[in-house]
Amino acid sequence: MQTDSSFTFVLFGGTGDLSMRKILPALFEAHRAGGMLADSGKIVAVARHAADRGEYIQWVNEHVKPHVSKNGVDETAWSSFLERIEFVKIDLGNPEDFALLRDAVKDLPGIRVFYLATGPSLFVPICRALASVGLNENARIVLEKPLGYDLKSSNAINDAVGEIFAEEQIYRIDHYLGKEPVQNLLALRFGNALFEPLWRREWVESIQITIAEELGVEARGDFYDNTGALRDMVQNHLLQLLSIVAMEPPHSMDSDSVRDEKLRVLRALKPIDPLNIGKVAVRGQYHAGGIRGNAVPAYATEPGVKPNSTTETFVALKVEIENWRWAGVPFFLRTGKRLADRVAEIVVNFRAVPHSALGASALRAGANRLVIRLQPNETIRLYCLAKQPGEGMNLASVHLDLAFDQFFREGQMEAYQRLLLDVINGRLALFVRRDEQEAAWRWVEPILNEWKASNKPPKPYAAGTWGPAAASAMLAQHGTCWLEEEN
Ligand code: BG6
Repeated sequence: MQTDSSFTFVLFGGTGDLSMRKILPALFEAHRAGGMLADSGKIVAVARHAADRGEYIQWVNEHVKPHVSKNGVDETAWSSFLERIEFVKIDLGNPEDFALLRDAVKDLPGIRVFYLATGPSLFVPICRALASVGLNENARIVLEKPLGYDLKSSNAINDAVGEIFAEEQIYRIDHYLGKEPVQNLLALRFGNALFEPLWRREWVESIQITIAEELGVEARGDFYDNTGALRDMVQNHLLQLLSIVAMEPPHSMDSDSVRDEKLRVLRALKPIDPLNIGKVAVRGQYHAGGIRGNAVPAYATEPGVKPNSTTETFVALKVEIENWRWAGVPFFLRTGKRLADRVAEIVVNFRAVPHSALGASALRAGANRLVIRLQPNETIRLYCLAKQPGEGMNLASVHLDLAFDQFFREGQMEAYQRLLLDVINGRLALFVRRDEQEAAWRWVEPILNEWKASNKPPKPYAAGTWGPAAASAMLAQHGTCWLEEEN
């Protein structure tokens, strides 16, 4: 990917966790790779926890360097990367300080990108302060998730930001959309004629999408306890994956063609019936347990979490899409913290043969299945039945594997690297449009409301397991089960 588009990348929250772990390392990778970032491009970090550029660079050396290049840092590239960095000390509570930012960037070249790696409560004040010094013109603004807490608060932010920036200037990040395997899902579906005719209700019995994590809430107990898995993972990452799995073929890959099709799926989600919620939604919370042989504490004892918290760390849902292609096909979504494995995958269960001329073994579960593993180890695995060697006609499940690392020698690009390059180059396709975000909130909100109103605690599960038994029971009602294979 070559670019000659120059840029000034202003990073609010320059000493925050996200800047340290993701944003600055991603910019460094793009810099190190050569040819991806214009030589004249500058990074202007904004923070108040450093006195001046010298102190900020020291912080970058201490805190960011350990997060770049797992295979060791290229020192020459690292020092030339540091030369790109400028620093402005701003107290975000003090709008007058923005004059300092205006002066700092006024002679810097190229398109201006303002990346708000801050809490959402600062989005509107920062945008207003940028506008007050004229910095909103011809600029791009990047908003991190969570963008609001519910439909109302997300609309309030979008309305206020929308008064200052036009929709084409706004880049709402969902980092799952930047993951290479998610891109590959588009390639699989729309680059091959083989799958598309089968990708519909006549041939598909059910679809599962799992994002399972071994990690707990880490240092974010306070944030997480006010958020929960439905807001943290379902409203955004899982519904985005679902919309890509289920969307109609877009006319082209331009940003609005793709986003229009995703939006149609989000708008076709069957609303959850509050009276029926127990049958289609399971919420859980982890108790003490063990992950890969190490004891881990209960969620309610994590720092920042209220001891009697009823926040969910696990969600499983049965979702239906009310359109011609998918009517009647259940989509099972699941995500959770402290589960048995770290895995993100999509499982497409095709229908069994209509008549079993080959005997009962031809109806075995586990065949006729496509598993698209997004992480770790991106693979696509097609399960089918084959005859077991020997006498008689006994069928066994076998699989065809596509392991991407065997085909492509170049490593995958990190999600943040791709997304930041897209912002700099003005490509919006992998960012969430306002109407998509609203549709997702609109669908999720009745679940949140019902859970709140019912006041029932989440179902317990031991850390290191696959979540509450009710999540398996929900699938059993449909004659299926979650795919849970060892990595
Ligand atoms: C973030 C969530 O959006 O995604 C985190 O806030 C979660 O809670 C993370 O851990 C998972 O992302 P990944 O890329 O590690 O699967």
